[in-house]
Amino acid sequence: MIKLPGLVDTHVHLRVPGGEHKEDLHTGSAAALAGGFTTILAMPNTNPPLVLPERVEAINAQAQREALCDVFFFGGASGDHIDQLPELAQHCVGLKVYMDQTFGPLRVEGLEALLSIFQKWPEGKMIAFHAEKNSMAVGVALAAIFFRPVHFCHVSRKEEIELIAAAKNRGLPVTCEVTPHHLFLSEEDLPRLGPLGDMRPVLGRSKDVKALWDHINDTVDCIATDHAPHTLAEKIGEKTPPGIPGLETSLPLMFNAVTENRLSLERLKALMHDNPRRIYNLPEQAETWVEVNENQRYEIKNEGLYTKCGWTPFAGQTVQGKIQRVVLRGKTVFENGLIVTQ
Ligand code: NCD
Ligand code: ZN
Repeated sequence: MIKLPGLVDTHVHLRVPGGEHKEDLHTGSAAALAGGFTTILAMPNTNPPLVLPERVEAINAQAQREALCDVFFFGGASGDHIDQLPELAQHCVGLKVYMDQTFGPLRVEGLEALLSIFQKWPEGKMIAFHAEKNSMAVGVALAAIFFRPVHFCHVSRKEEIELIAAAKNRGLPVTCEVTPHHLFLSEEDLPRLGPLGDMRPVLGRSKDVKALWDHINDTVDCIATDHAPHTLAEKIGEKTPPGIPGLETSLPLMFNAVTENRLSLERLKALMHDNPRRIYNLPEQAETWVEVNENQRYEIKNEGLYTKCGWTPFAGQTVQGKIQRVVLRGKTVFENGLIVTQ
């Protein structure tokens, strides 16, 4: 049995408020525990979005009541509420700045808004970017000019990870996360997956996947799931919303990669616990750990998932290493495939 610390996922969509048919605080946090995550950071592209202090205050209180693991929320940057950013910060783990098109309308357009965000958001709290391609260069420039930490979500392309590597070599305070789906899937899987392979950023080419793996030990700071559940009906419907679930498959996939010698167990711990905790300045959880049976091989299935959406693009894949037990603050919360509620 391998013992890991309670993992941290820096990028989860819990869909509350407004998307509770896809996921809610209870099902999302149950999926987190089933996947070995005892702390999750939730995104603000909800309906309405988490752009106002009172909304984040309310969702924090709701999570206290309904969530089974520790949940922290990002505030959403919006050009309409710049003056409230300092107050918003008091309730948030960080600020999410959407520079590119994705699910939901939350977006920051224009230099004026970006500049104000960097002036108003308090030092010491992270700014996390959804910034692809050229937008990422803008984010790196802002990190350099204001010389303050900036985190890049779901880096997926060769040129993007190379830009982050170059920025780090220059000593700029940038960090980044990569998702398991960008490490284990590519556009070659699209004919097989169809709409279930649609997410933002879109799946890369094999050269992109290779570049992410080439940088896994030096440039990549975190593995984050970007758990973005949508119902199967929505995914196979007329207008496919981008996003796929990931909370319950990410540790199994990453652990399987350890068994294949693609990364070390130490590196997995750094990517899924130590670095996320340090980057977002998260409190330690006492007596909290995850037990993985390193010899057990099993097939990932849609059946038995805790996420409300009930599917995974990794169904049918066999992995080595099964999560046996999760203990949070001294209490067993997941064992033998089941959430334990006391
Ligand atoms: C996310 C979602 O569905 O909320 N979708 C996605 O494809 N990643 C939005 C996001 O994280 O950009
Ligand atoms: Zn996301």
